Amino acid sequence: MKRILITGALGQIGSELASFLRKRYGNENVIASDIKHVPDEIINQVGVFEHIDCLDAQEICSVINKYKIDTVFHLAAVLSASGEKNPQLAWKVNINGLYNVLEIAREYKCAVFTPSSIAAFGPSTPKDKTPQETVQRPNTIYGLTKVTGELLCDYYYSKYGVDTRGVRFPGIISNVALPGGGTTDYAVEIFYEALKNKKYTCFLNKDTYLDMMYMPDALKAALNLMETDPSRLKHRNAYNVTAESFNPEQLAREIKKYIPDFEMNYDIDPMRQAIADSWPNRLDDSAARKEWGWSPDYNLEAMTKDMIEKLEVKLHVSV
Ligand code: SER
Repeated sequence: MKRILITGALGQIGSELASFLRKRYGNENVIASDIKHVPDEIINQVGVFEHIDCLDAQEICSVINKYKIDTVFHLAAVLSASGEKNPQLAWKVNINGLYNVLEIAREYKCAVFTPSSIAAFGPSTPKDKTPQETVQRPNTIYGLTKVTGELLCDYYYSKYGVDTRGVRFPGIISNVALPGGGTTDYAVEIFYEALKNKKYTCFLNKDTYLDMMYMPDALKAALNLMETDPSRLKHRNAYNVTAESFNPEQLAREIKKYIPDFEMNYDIDPMRQAIADSWPNRLDDSAARKEWGWSPDYNLEAMTKDMIEKLEVKLHVSV
């Protein structure tokens, strides 16, 4: 990787991936892009930035040409809960956007990282120790696009030799940019509300287990996978990765260690609860561990401690 383009760079993962990759590859070698325009208050922090709507192949092409890009981290996507509200848009953005990126990668010989998700699994998938290769019959439009995306990326690798790689990310917990429109978002919102108001009303049931990961591990996963010698990779699109599996009650209990009067209430959102119920409880990520040395640094305890410390500074509160 010498010259990198990130799509969806103003989203939850992109906001941190750009600075993470710049530290490693140099500021001028990482181009951030998004369909949104950069808000004035962060314009100085964003670095080299180009406007790209991934549905416009010409726009992608001209940026790839302009900067002689050789690797694309294609993060632009509509997440699970937003997808159920507008399935047509989710299909268009997640499928046509990926197709445009892959076609251009084929032409310009770029490597492509595309995140898949725990959403690529469905109700008929084994819920515990979900294997790398298993039943994938998701029932959300987001999940459908993720399975299709995994297959499309594998196809571009075997048919055209495009160096496609991906991971199935769990819910990502972070403190820079908020996630938007996902089912796992509660695990981020809870921290902001706990610090600001000492209470949170959770939209998922207290015993809903889901895989989760703290942002530093997610960034490490993307980088390590892309830097691995390709001869080691058997699965490519896409590797199960996880760091922790917990339910809302366990997360609340962990937060209470720092904020003893934190109060958790529940007001279940049937749509997001149904999505969460269709996803695994805990993935088996042994293929990623074996093929490219995946190993997370943060568990529930370490993640909670760091989130609270970082958000105390960001929100100017102390617990
Ligand atoms: N965090 C995502 C979502 O909830 C899962 O990929 O939609």
